[in-house]
Amino acid sequence: MRLFNPSLLDNLGGNADVLAKKLENKTAVIGVAGLGYVGMPIALEFAKMGYKTIGVDPSRWKIESLQKGKNYIEDLSDAEVAEVIHSGMFISSAEYDVLADADVIYICVPTPFNANKDPDLAYVISAGEGVSSILKKGQLIILKSTTFPGTTEDYLIPVLNKSGLSAGTDYYIAFSPERVDPGNKQFNTANTPIVVGGIDSDSSILAALANSKVIEKVYMVDNPKVAELEKLLENIFRSVNIALVNELALLCERMGDINVWEVIEAASTKPFGYLKFQPGPGVGGHCIPIDPYYLSWLAREYDFETKFITLAANVNEGMPYHVANLVVREIANLPISISQAKVLIVGVSFKKNVKDLRHSPAESVIIRLIENGIRNIDITDPWVEGEGYEAAGTTYYTKDISPEMIASYDVVVLITDHDDFDIPAIVKHSRKVIDTRNMAKNITENRDNIILLGSTPKKEKIVMQH
Ligand SMILES: NC(=O)c1ccc[n+]([C@@H]2O[C@H](COP(=O)([O-])OP(=O)(O)OC[C@H]3O[C@@H](n4cnc5c(N)ncnc54)[C@H](O)[C@@H]3O)[C@@H](O)[C@H]2O)c1
Repeated sequence: MRLFNPSLLDNLGGNADVLAKKLENKTAVIGVAGLGYVGMPIALEFAKMGYKTIGVDPSRWKIESLQKGKNYIEDLSDAEVAEVIHSGMFISSAEYDVLADADVIYICVPTPFNANKDPDLAYVISAGEGVSSILKKGQLIILKSTTFPGTTEDYLIPVLNKSGLSAGTDYYIAFSPERVDPGNKQFNTANTPIVVGGIDSDSSILAALANSKVIEKVYMVDNPKVAELEKLLENIFRSVNIALVNELALLCERMGDINVWEVIEAASTKPFGYLKFQPGPGVGGHCIPIDPYYLSWLAREYDFETKFITLAANVNEGMPYHVANLVVREIANLPISISQAKVLIVGVSFKKNVKDLRHSPAESVIIRLIENGIRNIDITDPWVEGEGYEAAGTTYYTKDISPEMIASYDVVVLITDHDDFDIPAIVKHSRKVIDTRNMAKNITENRDNIILLGSTPKKEKIVMQH
């Protein structure tokens, strides 16, 4: 691996040199296929830097919104998006033919899994077909979607080569995973280092050069597979460590008298060799719940079972079941039947201060509650907009919080730790709170009304008599 530096451009000749010069003098046109959480920040950065930028997305509402100058990604500045659209630096379309003029095309499309949790590359393939329809000599294609090693070379290139052009000979191609962290106020597209792996030296250098125009540090690795796997490692690292503290949380609950959050705080005082991860109601978003399965699926082809990685994913997937069990246990102590119980879910987006609802643990908790016979479930989340929150085939609309409203629920479940929740007020007016993220940690009054994930009071030990 090496850090990109402009002296590497001396190694380029022919079409690669032409493209490098266009990138250097800002006459290169940048294309972005997929204008979501990943594609939009890249498009905006290039347009702000003075590159003509063209975006393509089949989502009509996104294109209509952009064409009116309206931003829909919360981390981006509405004013900046409007500015690059009104100045003509950023145009967008639902059709791929607008990308014919692009010199560099970033592909930023979803990589979900199917019902069996096997990778679903349908979006990568369809984006590849779109790009293939306009591919021309000298273009650089950069795949950014998170995926398993081999996707760029074994899946995307064959689709692109249907154009009659050959990767490496006619066009350049690299994989460069995305590291955007929605809601992160410290790290953004520009100041988060990034990795690229091209299929050959020219592809790597050109992809690193393109990235370096909007990203401060770019590292080059040997090939696309290294870049594909390093991205999975980043996310699986999180999955495994979250699973570790989730397991510890369950153990602490069983033992009683040990608060896992305090254990974690205490361990975090070690200034080296320890990284802090927090337990919770389950993992969510487009990465952590999915990426382990991308690797375990691939490993099977090599008669290899990723036991450790799969186990971690299973532990995390078990957390919403556990949270639902905590709710049911509380209702069992009430003089009502389970079908009469009223439950309020506080926070449904997959992490704090974002409106991304994908794979949120809230959905899994709601499904488990319904499976247990709980019918009266409401949500409150200021980040959920008018269209509501889809879970278990029902659309839930966010309820405004008031003391009377909170008091009308039998159990209130704190799922997402958005900063705008008034936790003292919620706890004060709740009959019972299940706190899955230690959101009520500073509250000292009415602690008996709070069930904290990973912590149960001291209990009498009952020993088995054999
Ligand atoms: N969101 C994140 O925080 C994040 C971080 C790192 C990596 N990633 C990865 O980046 C990829 C994209 O994620 P995202 O969060 O931006 O998804 P997203 O759903 O926000 O955006 C993807 C966009 O691609 C569009 N699209 C679908 N098919 C297309 C096609 N054939 N051509 C052009 N556009 C098409 C969709 O309409 C959508 O607007 C995924 O692989 C994801 O795992 C996401």
